[in-house]
Amino acid sequence: MKKMKKAFITWITGQDWSYLAQLLLDKWYEVHGIKRRASSFNTERIDYLFENKNFNLHYWDLTDSANLIKLISEIKPDEIYNLAAQSHVHVSFEMPEYTANADGIWTLRLLEAIRIAWLEKTTKFYQASTSELFWWLEYNRPEAWYTEESPMHPRSPYGCAKLYAMWITRNYKESYDMFACNWILFNHESPVRWETFVTRKITMAVAKISLWLQNKLLLWNLDAKRDWWHAKDYVDAMWLMLQQEKCEDYVISTWETNTVRDFVNWSFEEVWINIEWRWKWIEEKWYNKKTWECIVEVDSRYFRPAEVDFLLWDSTKARKELWWIPKYSVRDMCKEMVASDVEKFRKQEILKNHWYEILEQYEI
Ligand code: NAP
Ligand code: GDD
Repeated sequence: MKKMKKAFITWITGQDWSYLAQLLLDKWYEVHGIKRRASSFNTERIDYLFENKNFNLHYWDLTDSANLIKLISEIKPDEIYNLAAQSHVHVSFEMPEYTANADGIWTLRLLEAIRIAWLEKTTKFYQASTSELFWWLEYNRPEAWYTEESPMHPRSPYGCAKLYAMWITRNYKESYDMFACNWILFNHESPVRWETFVTRKITMAVAKISLWLQNKLLLWNLDAKRDWWHAKDYVDAMWLMLQQEKCEDYVISTWETNTVRDFVNWSFEEVWINIEWRWKWIEEKWYNKKTWECIVEVDSRYFRPAEVDFLLWDSTKARKELWWIPKYSVRDMCKEMVASDVEKFRKQEILKNHWYEILEQYEI
């Protein structure tokens, strides 16, 4: 009988994990995921997986080496997907030291644990790298595409930590002949994206505004351009990358870039709210064309001291070598996210009203 493969994935509560875990379980893997202890429940994305006997959960924090070595030595995984990180760019300016530890040094701990467990020739290692490593110095090239040859210039403590993680992965590959590769990921989103990233923040606010549950959406840089992508398409590519004979770094991207402003417009279109923007003094404000209420405003609290304001990549290499074809467009993704949030808040409201009715009925 064919031996079941073992996959070890760092963290289980994040966006990508929920999709990757399902993909691996469908491919008949024994899946090991980690979670740090939290005093409140945060496993709603993956609760349905607990019934699967091939799914295993371990407690552990990224900063805890001893437990990591014990886990890797006991499990002896065939594939390790290193997805855990303090992944919020804005937060990294407020917590730079923690970010360096969790996103940079942490990768070194993991690579060392593989060596200590004598698994460097058998375990394949995947590092979630990022497009936040790149920035065009010459602002006169804002519409140019990035390629694997573009200069690296991180613009945040998050980017700097990830740059270290990328190079230490390359160094272990070269030094110890390990199968250790970097996947340079562009922004990927989905209905289970955390609420503090801009796309989900927008779709949640738009859903609530359409249901009269929120008045206004507050944002900062509306002109930032991103190469957005659906997380489901991304996890297919992550798995493909570790199945290759040759260990290579790859980039995956859509070949399309859009502004935060575009994403706001599309989202309101999904709930049939027409908006118009106007300048008031030096501030830009967006109005509902039916009620003339202001529903989008710029708020300096979301300002970043330095910013990657443009992202667009040429992913020819990955498409040629991996034969990977995405299934979603950015507009499909936006549609799915808005619909999912409208559904979620509508259900919540129905439930709330239902409880009020019961309480009133029994005069509680
Ligand atoms: P995410 O939703 O923010 O999830 C990050 C996870 O890491 C969270 O579940 C968090 O756990 C966990 N974590 C953070 N610090 C930890 C610690 N000290 N100990 C244990 N767990 C810890 O991330 P994502 O968007 O799915 O991204 C996955 C990976 O790809 C990340 O490495 C990110 O940097 C990289 N990436 C993402 C994108 C993107 O657009 N999504 C693009 C490029 C690269 P808690 O739930 O307990 O906080
Ligand atoms: N989060 C957020 N909140 N971003 C805003 C807001 C706001 O209110 N208003 C404007 N933006 C702009 C940000 O300044 C940025 O230019 C853009 O929207 C996208 O911000 P995020 O969604 O927070 O993502 P990110 O691009 O900074 O980082 C994400 O993608 C990286 C890959 O490019 C994260 O997932 C990183 O972990 C990942 O490496």
